[in-house]
Amino acid sequence: MQPARPPGYSSVSMPESSLLPILLVPDKRLRTKTRAVGPADLDTVRELAPRMLATMYKAPGIGLAAPQIGVMLRMAVVDLQKDDQPDPMVLINPEIVAQSTELSTREEGCLSLPNQYADVTRPTRIKLRWLALDGSKQELEADDLLATCIQHELDHLDGVLFVDHISALKRNMLLRKLMKELKNKTRDEE
Ligand code: NI
Repeated sequence: MQPARPPGYSSVSMPESSLLPILLVPDKRLRTKTRAVGPADLDTVRELAPRMLATMYKAPGIGLAAPQIGVMLRMAVVDLQKDDQPDPMVLINPEIVAQSTELSTREEGCLSLPNQYADVTRPTRIKLRWLALDGSKQELEADDLLATCIQHELDHLDGVLFVDHISALKRNMLLRKLMKELKNKTRDEE
C-alpha cells in the first residue's frame, strides 16, 4: 500500500541490487490468484522477505504483496513505520479469520497504481493468522490503518486491487489518469 504521505522511516539497509521491480497495472500477474506457500517454497520466501521489505521501504510504501514483484505466492510484507521506527511483519499464508461488522473508510493508494488515491470502505477490525519466517503460527487483532493495510495486501494475493472496491465510474477515471501519467513518464524518460 502507498500512503498519501511518505512514512517516516524509509532508509534502506540493502544494496540497490537486491531491490525488486514493482509491477504496475495493467500487468496480468496483479490480477492472478496466488497459491499457498508450501515447505518447498521456504528457501524462496526467506530469500525474498528482506528484499521485499527493502523494496517497500525504498518505494516508499507501508505494504507490499508478492504478486507485485511477480511472485505468485501467498506472502506479503507490512510496516506502518510509526514513530519513524522499523517494525517489519512478514506474512506467510495470511488469513483473516474474523472481521468486525463495523466499517471504516480510509484513503488508500497502491505501489502498483502509483500516486492514485481513493476512499475505500472495509471492516474496521480484523483477526489475522499467518506463519512467520521461522514457521511459527502467529495471530493478531488489528484495527485502524494496520487493519486497512493488511486487508489491502491480502486482496493482492487474490488478484484484487483497491480500485475494485470503488464505483466503476471512479475506477475508470482513476485508471485513465494513471495510464496518462505513466505514458507521460515514459515519454519524459526517452
Ligand atoms: Ni497495493
